[in-house]
Amino acid sequence: DPGAVDDAENAILGGGAETDNGHAGYTGSGFVDSLYPGATITVGVRVPTAGRYPVTIRYANWTGGRSAPYETVTRTISLVTAGSTQQLSLPVTGSWDTWSTVTADVTLPAGDDLVQLAVGPDDSGSINLDNLRI
Ligand code: GCU
Repeated sequence: DPGAVDDAENAILGGGAETDNGHAGYTGSGFVDSLYPGATITVGVRVPTAGRYPVTIRYANWTGGRSAPYETVTRTISLVTAGSTQQLSLPVTGSWDTWSTVTADVTLPAGDDLVQLAVGPDDSGSINLDNLRI
């Protein structure tokens, strides 16, 4: 366990991503929204031993009002680590106040590194991100 536990609002935000607290149920002092194309959330990790690590993100997806039928809209975001990218699928959670987690394994080298969530060209984005844990 690299010991990295980050509330998303304490990460480095780019591309229009911003901190919000306008929906309930988040951990810490808020969450990150406005995750539209080009947005990034970057966290530093300190990895004691190179290897495979599970990354868990806590998110909400309720894109009602913008892309009905929202009940069926799975959103996507890219998880970028150590030069490799994988796309995460984020099913609807039921409301913007309802949060779920997804976990993906990543390979990390030993030492200080960056883990990034990015709304890339093949991603829809439009989720809210509460935290990312490694
Ligand atoms: C709504 C919601 C935001 C969310 C946005 C989205 O505006 O209030 O928190 O980020 O939808 O579609 O991503």
